[in-house]
Amino acid sequence: RRVGVLISGRGSNMEALIEAAKGADYPADIVLVLANQPDAGGLATAAAQGITTVVVDHRPFKGDRAAFEEAIDARLRQEGVEFVCLAGFMRVLTPSFVTAWRGRLINIHPSLLPALPGLHTHERALAAGMRLHGCTVHFVSHELDAGPIIAQAAVPVRFGDTADTLAARVLAAEHRLYPRALALVAAGRATLAQDRVIYADAQA
Ligand code: GRF
Repeated sequence: RRVGVLISGRGSNMEALIEAAKGADYPADIVLVLANQPDAGGLATAAAQGITTVVVDHRPFKGDRAAFEEAIDARLRQEGVEFVCLAGFMRVLTPSFVTAWRGRLINIHPSLLPALPGLHTHERALAAGMRLHGCTVHFVSHELDAGPIIAQAAVPVRFGDTADTLAARVLAAEHRLYPRALALVAAGRATLAQDRVIYADAQA
């Protein structure tokens, strides 16, 4: 399966996906990395791996989200992309893009959804005194960080954690989780039906 990864920054999750996709029996190839930030660190990492990289800077579109997304969509289709992974992509996508890629568009979020949608999840987990935190891979739906959950990983919150130490523990879990979740989706073992996920291997 041909996969495009959308990033805005350092792209460590993207890198984890690229590494995993090198596996002989991994069901997906990362064929395109697209960033909305020209200086996204992940672009160089992907290019060094021989992956096609492209920048679609949102700024020239001056708030015209539909035109920005059409440009992204065109590049994805040009590369024959079948599944899209958001990996630290910091632009909210409109319903029209989400609908066009429904069931083939997934995101990783640094919390155990439905807890803590939105930004600053590590600070908020600490402020709330949570003892467990983690990450979620989900199908993207019209609501931010609220689509059907594909896979999750939990990590403990340790006494003395700061947002940084907690973020690092969650990020390590993200790097293990995202490749597993993409494999499920790309192999057709986790599919979106209506508003929930159907697993091929689900036990009754
Ligand atoms: C990750 O924590 C991801 O869950 C969140 O933004 C961060 C991106 O990190 N959405 P990276 O660019 O993958 O290193």
